[in-house]
Amino acid sequence: IKEKTLAIIKPDGVNGNYVDVIKKTILGSSFSITQEMQLQLNVNTVKSFYAEHASKSFFSGLVQYMTSGPVVIMVLEKENAIADWRALIGPTDANIAKVTHPKSVRAFCGLDLQRNCVHGSDSPQSAAREISFFFEKSSSAIVSQHD
Ligand code: CMP
Repeated sequence: IKEKTLAIIKPDGVNGNYVDVIKKTILGSSFSITQEMQLQLNVNTVKSFYAEHASKSFFSGLVQYMTSGPVVIMVLEKENAIADWRALIGPTDANIAKVTHPKSVRAFCGLDLQRNCVHGSDSPQSAAREISFFFEKSSSAIVSQHD
């Protein structure tokens, strides 16, 4: 199944000049980048995007971090894009990624559990919601299906 997923290069990734190397990694792993924009997120946008984490202890820190500088938001497309992008970025905690998934994106550009450099949608439902959150409202996570 050809899918779309949402990728975000977070402020630490943009600030650390990792945008080009991350995009090379994406393209070298057979994804196409069908949409892309750089923007500065505001507090309300981050609170709404991460609404499912509103009750977590790390939420205020997450909002502060995600508004600390520009982000690059991309729609990635390929067969199995959602799971494959999650596999490519590695575990949430960049310090764990460096040990267990040394070739992952978070291992080479992430800093710690919060400043983990990149985001990836975790399910088809999340991908559909997150893509329409930032891009075209009618988008579906599943692009085409053939058997
Ligand atoms: P992501 O998976 O993109 O979405 C939720 C984000 O919250 C996560 O990346 C981290 O940036 C951050 N996060 C998740 N868990 C924690 C935690 N325990 N402490 C601090 N930040 C976290």
